[in-house]
Amino acid sequence: MTNTVLAVKNLTKIYDGRRGKKTIAVDDISFSIRKNEVVGLLGPNGAGKTTTIKCICTLINPTKGTINVNGTDAVKNSRTVLQKVTAVLEGNRNIYWRLSVRENLEFFAGLQGIPARRVQNYIDQLIELFQLKEKEQTPARKLSRGMQQKLAVACALVKQTDILLLDEPTLGLDVEISHELRFALKEMAQQGERTIIVSSHDMSVVQDICERVIIINNGRIVTDDRVANLLRLFQASAYRFEIEGRLAEQQVKRLEERFEMLKVSGTDYHTEIEVDLEDGNQIYEIMDILKEGDSRIRSIARKDPNMEEIFLTIIKGSKQ
Ligand SMILES: Nc1ncnc2c1ncn2[C@@H]1O[C@H](COP(=O)(O)OP(=O)(O)OP(=O)(O)O)[C@@H](O)[C@H]1O
Ligand SMILES: [Mg+2]
Repeated sequence: MTNTVLAVKNLTKIYDGRRGKKTIAVDDISFSIRKNEVVGLLGPNGAGKTTTIKCICTLINPTKGTINVNGTDAVKNSRTVLQKVTAVLEGNRNIYWRLSVRENLEFFAGLQGIPARRVQNYIDQLIELFQLKEKEQTPARKLSRGMQQKLAVACALVKQTDILLLDEPTLGLDVEISHELRFALKEMAQQGERTIIVSSHDMSVVQDICERVIIINNGRIVTDDRVANLLRLFQASAYRFEIEGRLAEQQVKRLEERFEMLKVSGTDYHTEIEVDLEDGNQIYEIMDILKEGDSRIRSIARKDPNMEEIFLTIIKGSKQ
């Protein structure tokens, strides 16, 4: 691929623990990222997201495999790669406490060799986008934690490196700040001029910001697809049945035996069945089972898929 900016090949990372205990954090993963792609790295706790990101930004060395950043081998030439990659790691707000918001932005641009006067417009844009205007002159140490996080991400952006890695950027932020940060990143993504990899457990972050998602579980890639494709794929199969009254235990058992991805919930008066069907005809099978128990179906509807359910389905599937 011509405009590949990042190529990860057979990346494996094994941590050596105490008493010879080894953890395979990343297990032979490969992917490549094109210029200006915004890609989500999604996975449950311990999946290997942070480890992957730390390898890409050369903070740790892979056990096996190669990472190539815009033509440079990350293991052999970490110094060069550091000029091309910026990472904001989980919970690490790498900003200068005594410098104001604007000074921090100028400083980080300067680190990259971009003179402050040349970057003023971009800094103005970032301050606006991240809603930090009121705090422009405030030293970073006096900002709230959420604002510090926004500033850290803005400082990473201002460096304008080939690749920006964000590890759980919204973790632990309150709803409002998380929303502001997501909004800013979404705007960034839509401008289509930055290559960003963002890791998260939070599917809605990925659904919001990214066009493509790589789902990892137990150190392995289980899916790598466009978000839109995943949503479409799952749309065909998710249904919700609304039933009057409660289902007999026997019916629930039969449904559960027949359909793997099935959830029954409700009260004495009302039951909801959520089910993933491989084929629309399976609706009739469900209707048959329900008929045997004299259950009245109130409605059958396709469910709107969301990334969270897709994610859980894929993760469950990959464990089998
Ligand atoms: N320095 C380390 N030494 C030993 N094991 C580690 C180390 N760092 C991570 N691990 C282990 O490697 C695996 C992957 O961890 P990693 O932090 O990459 O996952 P993650 O996807 O970022 O998880 P989270 O969502 O919790 O941040 C886990 O089993 C973790 O316990
Ligand atoms: Mg992590």
